[in-house]
Amino acid sequence: MTKLTWYGHATLGLETNGYHILIDPFFSGNPAATVSADKVRADFILVTHGHGDHVGDTVEIAKRTGALVISNFEITNWLGKHGVKTHPQHLGGGFKHPFGYLKLTLALHGSALPDGSYGGNPAGFLLTTNDGKKIYIAGDTGLFGDMKLIGEEGLDLAVIPIGDNFTMGPQDALRAVKLLTPKVVIPIHYGTWGLIEQDPSAWSAQVERETSVKVVVLKPGETFEL
Ligand code: NI
Ligand code: MN
Repeated sequence: MTKLTWYGHATLGLETNGYHILIDPFFSGNPAATVSADKVRADFILVTHGHGDHVGDTVEIAKRTGALVISNFEITNWLGKHGVKTHPQHLGGGFKHPFGYLKLTLALHGSALPDGSYGGNPAGFLLTTNDGKKIYIAGDTGLFGDMKLIGEEGLDLAVIPIGDNFTMGPQDALRAVKLLTPKVVIPIHYGTWGLIEQDPSAWSAQVERETSVKVVVLKPGETFEL
């Protein structure tokens, strides 16, 4: 059984075959967060890139829970210096973790860490769960044509940003859906602040008009079961 909870912004909780995985755990300072960093459960934490709205509460949660943090080499080095257990990977590289096979994918964005340290290249994640579900989490990114290659893997679920300004906006996100052709798409990274305000129901209607992909719009705190 695999289910995904959206905690607002780009913060996700994935539960798969008994493992609790947090992705970009930004709770403190996230106006949409529905739980607090000191309550949330984690066996693993995945960080797409170094920006504060993605690294978020990683250090605090990893220290409290003992969760293993998976990110790129530069970010895991930085987290290691903060006393966190890590597993470094990098773009294009996959590894068989207890919860599934996780590959780091390209993302077109920045990745400096909150204190200005170099955060390497930003990433997305492509996870194949132990029961064979393929989940793509794009991370913060602009549209890029190689999303077609990711789509060729056969995606059960894609989680993509639609907020515009810092990432793809609704129109490029629609083009991304056409390249990725997942069974289901969930929009994130919108609505947190005025700069990235969007209407997810209008986007959903347009995607479902122009493609055969099902759009699931979650409210912060809601869960989608695959
Ligand atoms: Ni970012
Ligand atoms: Mn962001």
